[in-house]
Amino acid sequence: MEIRAVRPADVPAAEEVIAAAFGEPPDGRVVRMVRALQTGGAARASLVAVVDGDLVGHVGLSRAWVDARRELVEVLVLSPLSVRPDRQGRGVGTALVAAALEAAEGTGAPAVFLEGSPDYYGRRGFGFASALGFERPSTRVPDPGFQVALLSPYQPWMVGRLVYPEAFWTTDTVGLRDPELERVEAQIAAWRADRSA
Ligand SMILES: CC(C)(COP(=O)(O)OP(=O)(O)OC[C@H]1O[C@@H](n2cnc3c(N)ncnc32)[C@H](O)[C@@H]1OP(=O)(O)O)[C@@H](O)C(=O)NCCC(=O)NCCS
Repeated sequence: MEIRAVRPADVPAAEEVIAAAFGEPPDGRVVRMVRALQTGGAARASLVAVVDGDLVGHVGLSRAWVDARRELVEVLVLSPLSVRPDRQGRGVGTALVAAALEAAEGTGAPAVFLEGSPDYYGRRGFGFASALGFERPSTRVPDPGFQVALLSPYQPWMVGRLVYPEAFWTTDTVGLRDPELERVEAQIAAWRADRSA
């Protein structure tokens, strides 16, 4: 498997993989978000996974901010992460997350945030962001899914609210909405009740 920066000629195939992974039509919301991050100047890295000449995965990194008391801190958001459905479960996502974290280290950013399953990302370098004092960009991001990986430039004062770039808002891709939000919150409550029983 080769992981490399996206090339202009890869864009249609990368968009196809993103739409397929998220079960969306070709011009779906997540593809529109990726385009808006590019045109809005927030995109910082766009990596693809290629297996036997086939583009099977994609991951994006974008600039966001942590609104810390001392000063605004530029950080990164890992989103979206996409693996073609017929290639899932074979380590492509894991390789893309590792490559994105390596690319993030090279930018000098102190942290990478994302919204996602703590089960999946907890084994891939991420942990609970709220536990470190960060605040979610929206209360529609379920707290356990608000994840962060701290990088070497991180210092303890760099905490505060995560502020997303505009593209996440203009494409309405932040967090979850009801009824999905309600369903996930009920799952989290049941999981917490199980653990405290
Ligand atoms: C989430 C996603 C990127 C994982 O990529 P992947 O290449 O299948 O992941 P890997 O093979 O590296 O890792 C497999 C792990 O993912 C889990 N997994 C999640 N969705 C899976 C799927 N559809 N098929 C197989 N494994 C899946 C497995 O349980 C396994 O967990 P573990 O290794 O921690 O026990 C991929 O399933 C995907 O594109 N999903 C749709 C889009 C999405 O939800 N993106 C993430 C939004 S935060």
